[in-house]
Amino acid sequence: MSSIEINSVLVENRLFKPSATFTAKARLKAEDLEALYKRAEEDYEGFWGDLAKQHIDWHSPFTTILDDSLAPHYKWFTDGTMNVSYNCIDRHLENKSEKTAIIFEGETGDTRHISYQQLHDDVCQFANVLKAKGINKGDRIVIYMPMVPEAVIAMQACARIGAIHSVVFGGFSAESLRDRINDAQAVMVITADGGTRGGKIVELKKETDKALSKGCASIKNVIVLKRSGQDITMQDGRDSWWSDTIEGQDKTCEPEWVNAEDPLFLLYTSGSTGKPKGIQHASAGYLLNAVITNLWVFDLQDNDIFWCTADVGWITGHTYVAYGPLAAGSTIVMYEGAPVVPDAGRFWQMCEQHKVTVFYTAPTAIRALMKFGDDYPNRYDLSSIRLLGTVGEPINPEAWMWYHTVIGKERCPIVDTWWQTETGAHVLTPVPGVTATKPGSCTLPLPGMAADIVNEDGKSITEANTGGYLVITKPWPSMVRTVWGDDERYVDTYFPKFDGKYYLAGDSARRDDDGYFWIMGRIDDVLNVSGHRLGTMEIESALVANEAVIEAAVVGRPHDLKGESIVAFVICKGDRPVGDDAEKMVASLRNWVGEQIGAIAKPDDIRFADGLPKTRSGKIMRRLLRTIAAGEEITSDTSTLENEAVVEQLQGKV
Ligand code: WTA
Repeated sequence: MSSIEINSVLVENRLFKPSATFTAKARLKAEDLEALYKRAEEDYEGFWGDLAKQHIDWHSPFTTILDDSLAPHYKWFTDGTMNVSYNCIDRHLENKSEKTAIIFEGETGDTRHISYQQLHDDVCQFANVLKAKGINKGDRIVIYMPMVPEAVIAMQACARIGAIHSVVFGGFSAESLRDRINDAQAVMVITADGGTRGGKIVELKKETDKALSKGCASIKNVIVLKRSGQDITMQDGRDSWWSDTIEGQDKTCEPEWVNAEDPLFLLYTSGSTGKPKGIQHASAGYLLNAVITNLWVFDLQDNDIFWCTADVGWITGHTYVAYGPLAAGSTIVMYEGAPVVPDAGRFWQMCEQHKVTVFYTAPTAIRALMKFGDDYPNRYDLSSIRLLGTVGEPINPEAWMWYHTVIGKERCPIVDTWWQTETGAHVLTPVPGVTATKPGSCTLPLPGMAADIVNEDGKSITEANTGGYLVITKPWPSMVRTVWGDDERYVDTYFPKFDGKYYLAGDSARRDDDGYFWIMGRIDDVLNVSGHRLGTMEIESALVANEAVIEAAVVGRPHDLKGESIVAFVICKGDRPVGDDAEKMVASLRNWVGEQIGAIAKPDDIRFADGLPKTRSGKIMRRLLRTIAAGEEITSDTSTLENEAVVEQLQGKV
């Protein structure tokens, strides 16, 4: 892990207080928040124990709040039993059975409204299908679906019977899907014939077939939802249509009362090595932080319509689409499609049409839509929106101000939420009716979240504007439990320093004069491209797996819209490709990476040289590569390089 680099310190003095109108109606007032902080400070376990009793319907109560006997493998509420799907659906049936749970819209404009009762029936029927296919508690099921309600139904059905789902983002390729299936030893894939994005069909079943054709011996069944309607092949004995399987299935299904610590899901995410890791979340602890953050941070109240634009393939789509808002009894919007179809007004048109009140998206989407100008949002009535949120990457103040003025009409608080796949839910974020915000800062930790910034020795950094490691010094209920099948990797990745006491987030951060947190970037080899996490090693492994490639190094380059773009430095077999040959090779390698990982990992820029800049001890000089990628002047001395000449090649000078 490289040491912390502090580049620029952005000074931001603008402070935006929530409006009195917002605060008056907000669920949490300043005194409530104060009381929560106080309680967490005075009795940390009692604080979480109370919340768990208040926000989760238990089948049998827990008596232990936190078990840290196997730290850093922490357990929460461990002797209690419950069911996540029961908490997301059944407990609302008495009072809200006809309330809309999901408003769905497809790219071509088809819409569906699904009530809590309907969701219950659909989830139960599908849970019965899973049982009929021999799925048992603890079995792993891969969900590779478009953003349609059935993706949520499939997730909830798994939760209902205690099966562990692993959702794979539809943009990942067959190879990525296969790796995830094999790592989890999944027994079933739930997919669709195809999805739609930007008018194009995403060939989910075809990719699934490709993945399964190359050895996924654990898979016994594939269930296919008809969505796009294109021709696909179904394999007898293995594949069945969703609609056929639910035929005649009962619309009730007694939930499996699982242990609080039984795994709810795996979600693969990128880290510093070539192999994505299966982040394992537990049931009750995950649900608890999911519910309270939907209530505290999104302030969800009975008549809210909440639209989180994230795909269910990412953690945001788990906590703020498929689970949290439903557990809070809210109404969610789901959209299958691109934000620019038919034009850049799509999000705003949908906000008007569905009367969205709380809108949550990624800075990259805001920047992309901002580029099209104010006319698009100004065409629509956005007066239903009362709260805005962002997630996934730091938001630049310019995009924040646009979101604030053009979308929020200077009326809506913005919650810039910092969190990770591993944290399960928000950690650093404003509380909308209380916290004054600054463009670009995720402000302060939530009550019970012991976030801190420490130096190399694990000492808290109290000086303002001094960067350090972002850590969380106490366990919390929705934290990652382990890396699937690899406890050692869990400890090595998240507790490698500070005597294994602090959770190391992998980000660097600083606090300003007001104690507000500012995220500065990753400290490991993880890129953040359009809010998606990608490991440089993963892309390098994909490149060197190509027969034309000998060696590759991948770095990030700052990018106006995507946050970071991917630059690959490649050494090919034989002569260095130049001219037409280089162009052809670039196209072929981009395609190749698309096939190996998915289109999101295709390098934006590929450069060829006879070698990579290395120190005399053979280490690739990544910092130098980042400078070259950014087109910046090289100020460091390159004379110690083993092969100085390659620098000019990589700069494109020769
Ligand atoms: C980054 C997404 C700045 C950060 C929920 C983190 C952010 C990584 C923010 C996790 C934010 C997320 N401000 N950076 N508000 N939110 N990040 O696992 O680097 O896909 O470590 O989870 O995204 O990405 P992940």
